[in-house]
Amino acid sequence: CRVLVLISGNGSNLQAIIDDCDDHLEAEIVGVVSNKPDAYGLIRAHQSEIDTSCVIVRKDEARSDYDARLKLAIDKYQPDLIVLAGFMRILSDEFVQGFEGRMINIHPSLLPKYTGLNTHQRAIDAKDTEHGASVHFVTPELDSGPIILQAKVPVYDEDTADTLADKVHQQEHAIYPMVVKWFSQNRLQMKDGKAFLDGKA
Ligand code: GRF
Repeated sequence: CRVLVLISGNGSNLQAIIDDCDDHLEAEIVGVVSNKPDAYGLIRAHQSEIDTSCVIVRKDEARSDYDARLKLAIDKYQPDLIVLAGFMRILSDEFVQGFEGRMINIHPSLLPKYTGLNTHQRAIDAKDTEHGASVHFVTPELDSGPIILQAKVPVYDEDTADTLADKVHQQEHAIYPMVVKWFSQNRLQMKDGKAFLDGKA
């Protein structure tokens, strides 16, 4: 399975997937594409000898134009799976539809709670006792595609957004590589707006 990872920043999830792919042969990361030239994840990719591209947004560029350039950069790698790993740009409906059932994202909350940003602080403000991360198929509506796998962490009174982010990150690094592996083993599908693992919703 040819895996393409999209990033904007640190790329710790990218690293977890790189490390896991080293341990099994089903998935190969064929490229990493970033919208930010200084994303640390690009360095991680270079260290693992993975090809990288950068597609930087131009001044006053329409979203559809940017997404068309991004698609060109991605298509070059002929990926089977697109993995959004901290890619901090909203993608147009058309772009998303072009990769339907072949694009996944990880979001730092127990979706459907807290789509969008600042999820850790929002969980604290709401006095939630548990929080976590969700891997889902990407559909046009932001952070709302069918959920594939979630991991929970407890929220304690002394937690801050930073301590919670650390705990959630650790869980992300466990679940995201697992989902990539399932997909690459052909065990995962999106059908009629639902995620199926081994044929079960
Ligand atoms: C993660 O928390 C992920 O849930 C969110 O962006 C963050 C990316 O972190 N989508 P990293 O770049 O993988 O370290």
